[in-house]
Amino acid sequence: MGRKPTLDPENWADFRAQSHAALDAAIDHMEGRSGQPVWQPVPENIRKSLQQELPLEGQPRAALCKRIAQDFLPYNVGNTHARFFGWVHGAGTPDGLIPEMFTAAMNANLGGRDHVAIDVEKQVIDWCRQMFSFPESAGGLVVSGTSMATLIALKSAREKHGGLGLRASGLQGGPRLVGYASTQAHSCIARTFDILGLGKDALRAIPVDGDYRMDVAALRAAIERDLADGLQPFCVIGTAGTVNVGSVDPLRELADIAGEFDLWLHVDGAFGALAVLNSRTRDLLEGIERSTSIAFDFHKWMHVNYDAGFVLIRRAEDQRRAFSERPDYLEGAARGLAAGNPWFCEYGPELSRGFRALKIWYHLSRFGTRRIGEKIADNCDQAQALAGMVRRANGLELLAPVALNITCFRAVPDGLDAVALDDLNARIVVALQERGLAAPSTTRLGGKLAIRVNITNHRTQIADLEFLVARVLELAKGLA
Ligand SMILES: Cc1ncc(COP(=O)(O)O)c(C=O)c1O
Repeated sequence: MGRKPTLDPENWADFRAQSHAALDAAIDHMEGRSGQPVWQPVPENIRKSLQQELPLEGQPRAALCKRIAQDFLPYNVGNTHARFFGWVHGAGTPDGLIPEMFTAAMNANLGGRDHVAIDVEKQVIDWCRQMFSFPESAGGLVVSGTSMATLIALKSAREKHGGLGLRASGLQGGPRLVGYASTQAHSCIARTFDILGLGKDALRAIPVDGDYRMDVAALRAAIERDLADGLQPFCVIGTAGTVNVGSVDPLRELADIAGEFDLWLHVDGAFGALAVLNSRTRDLLEGIERSTSIAFDFHKWMHVNYDAGFVLIRRAEDQRRAFSERPDYLEGAARGLAAGNPWFCEYGPELSRGFRALKIWYHLSRFGTRRIGEKIADNCDQAQALAGMVRRANGLELLAPVALNITCFRAVPDGLDAVALDDLNARIVVALQERGLAAPSTTRLGGKLAIRVNITNHRTQIADLEFLVARVLELAKGLA
């Protein structure tokens, strides 16, 4: 009986040559990125070409690589460009190509078992523990992003405070758990309350002060009100770097309140938590080291290529107890491949887990926290510099104080009412994007539509921000 063909290359020499060519195309794309539009819409013919029937037969590799290079690479979201300022996207690095290649070659599943990828993730976890001065008892998990990290942290908090019985009986007839976050908290927190069966209404929206930081007196009053009503407060969520304006909640005071009322203090530090990496920005986060858990992303301000987030939990055991399941077919062993207990699948909802840890390990090893931290502090300086440009310009208005790396402003030409100003600024942002000049996003502050410039971008230079201001002023004239 002849050997049946597999999915491996029939001709390894061809595969090698074509893979090298594909790598060259990827590198060409990254090297030439600054000369291209920040963003361009996907042409209709390409969009149509992606509406084909499920393929029955395969196609040649070279043709597929060519298609990816020609049809996909130019129509990316734009966050590899120096003038991408929208939402909170990290910029990635060309170096990110390298671990991705090895990750694919290893094809490791990190749900558990005893293999080197597990040790790499353990190293990443320990580095995160060190980053935030957490104790030896701390644990964590590499995840897809802060949304998943938040889910894992708050599920651990739910069981810690509501009792492990919730895992069997659910919330029916159980304690009426409530939590607290500011009105500026990211929507992933309310969604987590929904997913955990607590309900979004169980998340109290605490007002913020003029700097968009949680009002601690209002937090205390809300907790006392809920206690008086017979509810069970279980967590407070502070944000280090709010998505709208980059403000940081008073984490030290939140830690005091959490201690006083015996609450789990979770910090959503999706991007802002990484300000711990530089001495110029670290003090803004004072108190984060006292939190019970932190969610943050490597793919935002750390610039690890998408996707990579992390949840850090002060007591690893709280996390394990909230998730652990070890049925017969996942039984561990003292030796052999099934060793390496406990397994990572006991710390989160996923059993099969890819080797994201490699690109994080590579990135931290390659660049070091000092260099990454400097880029973070540079972005904060740039956001302040942009605020200065806005203040000095005739016809622009700053809409929020700049705490970290986000500057929100708008064009205010004479003679337009509130509705017309919102409309104009929205059109300015679309024009900047569609002309490929820059990619800020929008938000609303005090009811006003803001041009929101988020700088989590190691490629951005002051000249890029000067360019942006000049184009906004031109467009404000042209589109008004
Ligand atoms: C403050 C904050 N929290 C949570 C998230 C959600 O993170 P992810 O998109 O990685 O799930 C974001 C995303 O921008 C954010 O800015």
